[in-house]
Amino acid sequence: MSGGTARERVEGLRERIRAADHAYYVLDQPLLSDAEYDRLMRELGALEAEHPELASPDSPTARVSGEPSADFARVVHREPMLSIANAMSDDELAEFDARVHRLLALPEDEAVGYVGEPKLDGLAVELVYERGAFVQGSTRGDGVNGEDVTANLRALQWLGANRGVPQRLVGASPNDLPRLEIRGEVLLQKAHFEAMVRRIQRINEVRTAEGKAPLKVPANPRNAAAGSLRQKDPQETRNRPLSFIAYDAVAPGIEPWATHWEKLQSIRGWGFEVNAENTRCAGLAEVRKWRDQMATRRFQLPYETDGIVVKVDDLDLRHRLGAASKTPRWAVAFKYPPHEDETVVIDIVPQVGRTGILTPVAKVREVKLSGAVVTSATLHNEDELRRKDVRVGDWVIMRRAGEVIPEIVMSLPERRTGAERVFEFPRACPVCGARVVREEGEKVWRCTGAACPAQLVARLLHFAQRRAMDVEGLGEVAAGQLVEKGLVKDFADLYAVPLEEWRRIFARPRKAEVGDKRRELPEKAAQNLVDALERSKHTTLRRLLFGLGIPQVGEATAAQLARHFAELGRLLDAGEEELQAVRDVGPEVAREIRAWTGEPRNRAVVERLLAAGVVAAPEAAPRGGAFAGKSVVLTGTLAKLSRDEARAEVERRGGRVTGSVSRKTDLVVAGEEAGSKLEKARELGVAVVGEAEFLAMLEER
Ligand code: IVH
Repeated sequence: MSGGTARERVEGLRERIRAADHAYYVLDQPLLSDAEYDRLMRELGALEAEHPELASPDSPTARVSGEPSADFARVVHREPMLSIANAMSDDELAEFDARVHRLLALPEDEAVGYVGEPKLDGLAVELVYERGAFVQGSTRGDGVNGEDVTANLRALQWLGANRGVPQRLVGASPNDLPRLEIRGEVLLQKAHFEAMVRRIQRINEVRTAEGKAPLKVPANPRNAAAGSLRQKDPQETRNRPLSFIAYDAVAPGIEPWATHWEKLQSIRGWGFEVNAENTRCAGLAEVRKWRDQMATRRFQLPYETDGIVVKVDDLDLRHRLGAASKTPRWAVAFKYPPHEDETVVIDIVPQVGRTGILTPVAKVREVKLSGAVVTSATLHNEDELRRKDVRVGDWVIMRRAGEVIPEIVMSLPERRTGAERVFEFPRACPVCGARVVREEGEKVWRCTGAACPAQLVARLLHFAQRRAMDVEGLGEVAAGQLVEKGLVKDFADLYAVPLEEWRRIFARPRKAEVGDKRRELPEKAAQNLVDALERSKHTTLRRLLFGLGIPQVGEATAAQLARHFAELGRLLDAGEEELQAVRDVGPEVAREIRAWTGEPRNRAVVERLLAAGVVAAPEAAPRGGAFAGKSVVLTGTLAKLSRDEARAEVERRGGRVTGSVSRKTDLVVAGEEAGSKLEKARELGVAVVGEAEFLAMLEER
């Protein structure tokens, strides 16, 4: 930022930061990358320090960011929930330690004891317990005014090792405490975030194909967690696998602890998850050592962290240090350099998908992000592309959302030279040459070619994917050649490609693709593919239905259809009314399915698949997965499934459901009001999951 008076610059920065805060905290849709946000904050802080006359008590530098949403009742935090000052460099970390020494008048060589904790990237909440019972939970909000999300927090149940939000504290003494406040972070683990994004993308494929506005894809696990917790309907929150990790307790009037570390042990004893990574450090040197270990270790943790928090361990010293308006003087957050990096957009290419939709994909100069090399990122659709204003030749900031999904955060227009090119969607399909159109009211450009090879290739890949027919080895290049040579015009043709042809295809020299396994010999690759095709013939109805790519039929609907009809023939002959009797199938979906099954060409392909020897078994055969060979106990009430349905789901996956918990039990699924069986499981150290995670496990295979 340059030019203008200092006052104008300060005001401009405050405005940008406030807009970014609103987008982040209220809309759960960040405008700026974390790095960019931190940069603006620091610039503002520096200007205010330079011009004290411009300082203001409501500047973003003086207030905790975040405004409570009007959708929730307001909760006033008895003790404000503060923010933490950032240290961006090793020097700044040393400065923090020096200041602690100075304020406490300690000699330089007397080490101060610290506790190092990973800085969890979720959202802070406060849980209030009265005489051991959970009575109220709220978000941090602006630090003083939070949002009442009690009902939603009650939905956080056991999730693997995470204990969620206990309804009652365990252990004798806390139940006598008139009031206890537990603070910690609600978060969504990386794997759950990834599954959520994939699910939304699948839904969006259908929605865009129907001309509906796509659902918002959360930008990162933090936003996904915030959105999930701040649902108006607590039932919705129940379906999101959120975790809670506690890091502080406030027990007004009764604070028996000498150190933060002891307090953490108490919190754990009351039935909360306390981060097992937390470490006691005897002084700055140990903090540094631990910080450096964490710099790589954090990528192995199941949740996203963006740094570490360093807290003075001795609570007496803490009280003496006190707090400034926004941040305590006894804590500092050391931020790891963001896994964002700058790179250049080499090209933007339209990729033609299964339904003919053209997706703009940015090809970028290689960057390493969160431990992986990234060379491209989807720009989703024209509106998104225009919103981000990404041009060929642009410098852009890239990151992997949730350390997983590569994305362009923003373009850097200030670095343009004038040679950049605005991407225009082609009016003819780059693959088949047919007209490309964007219909009135639609978000997408679509190839109108009925026989577009790109669509066919995409359909073949959909059919062959692991979650459908599972034809290992059939990649984009091989599928492309089959189509190009005219060998394959539909799914059934795949089964008729002779070994010879596969050999020829795999013998063709080709560029290594990202994610390619090391190249096998053509003979071997060809034989493997023929074997994989052979294996794929013994499949399940739900996989086949999913693989056929019937409009509106994703994995979940395919499973419901398979369960309902059990036989393919019955489904093909079903009318709209019968289809609507299937769970999750409404009139619109029924119409689409019927239109598909009524099309003679589709029926012919199915006939030929069966003639080729494809057998679709009604029930999913147990093929490993989370429940195979496992002994499972169901306890408490599940909201989404009856006990019988849950049992059937487990058994279908090769698990056994038993009535009582013993050392031989592998897993306890604990619903609402789970009682003695849950206690027993805890005693024996048996793994426990809540309903949300159970449902997530059912989705895996
Ligand atoms: S302690 C005054 N410990 O960071 C200190 N906060 O910038 C109060 N956070 O709102 C918080 N991990 O959302 C603390 N181990 C940790 C944390 C942590 C993440 C978040 C929390 C807080 C924000 C402050």
